[in-house]
Amino acid sequence: MFNQISLMQTVYPTHQALVETLKNLTDDPLESTGSNMVIYRGYPKADLMIIGEAPGAEEDKIGKPFVGRSGQLLDKILQAVHFNIETDIYITNTLKRRPPNNRNPKQEELEYYFPFLAEEIRLVDPKIILLAGKYAMLTILQEKRGITKVRGQWVEQGGRWVMPIFHPAYLLRNPRKTPGSPKALMWEDIRAVRAKYDELRNDGDG
Ligand code: URA
Repeated sequence: MFNQISLMQTVYPTHQALVETLKNLTDDPLESTGSNMVIYRGYPKADLMIIGEAPGAEEDKIGKPFVGRSGQLLDKILQAVHFNIETDIYITNTLKRRPPNNRNPKQEELEYYFPFLAEEIRLVDPKIILLAGKYAMLTILQEKRGITKVRGQWVEQGGRWVMPIFHPAYLLRNPRKTPGSPKALMWEDIRAVRAKYDELRNDGDG
């Protein structure tokens, strides 16, 4: 279903043109709920893209994704393996506005914003995409198995390496660091991501 929509999508000449269009949207399904447009943060030419679910209250206020508690944890995880958020990473969401009371995304909302997300991917052109949580995983991979089953597994899609990872909010709710805990598994995953990133960048140089 998502793939059919992507065939009909508008093609934007630049990332900036896409951002301008998103900023000026007035007919999107969450426009009437009074929340702001939240598009991205990081570097629009980054090799590593992270796709989350939807903006929360803090993101809505500031206008950037992952700037609340989840985002702070996400940054810490990325920095632990020496990624520079400003130059190595592009962070975005499946939904571009906050759903009322942070409820789960609805199918029609995911479908509406998907062509914009597909354009973000095409224009940023990352080598690696991390899908943080269930909704990013559903949108990009149409993967219906639980995140605990598929996290940490690479899928090659359209010449990119895609990996589902735990959503940082899940890690905040499960703070244990014992072997096999979500935090311990996230640590394994992010080290695998760092290794893949270095490998792909070295291939590009050679
Ligand atoms: N959770 C998300 O999935 N995205 C955000 O931007 C913030 C919290």
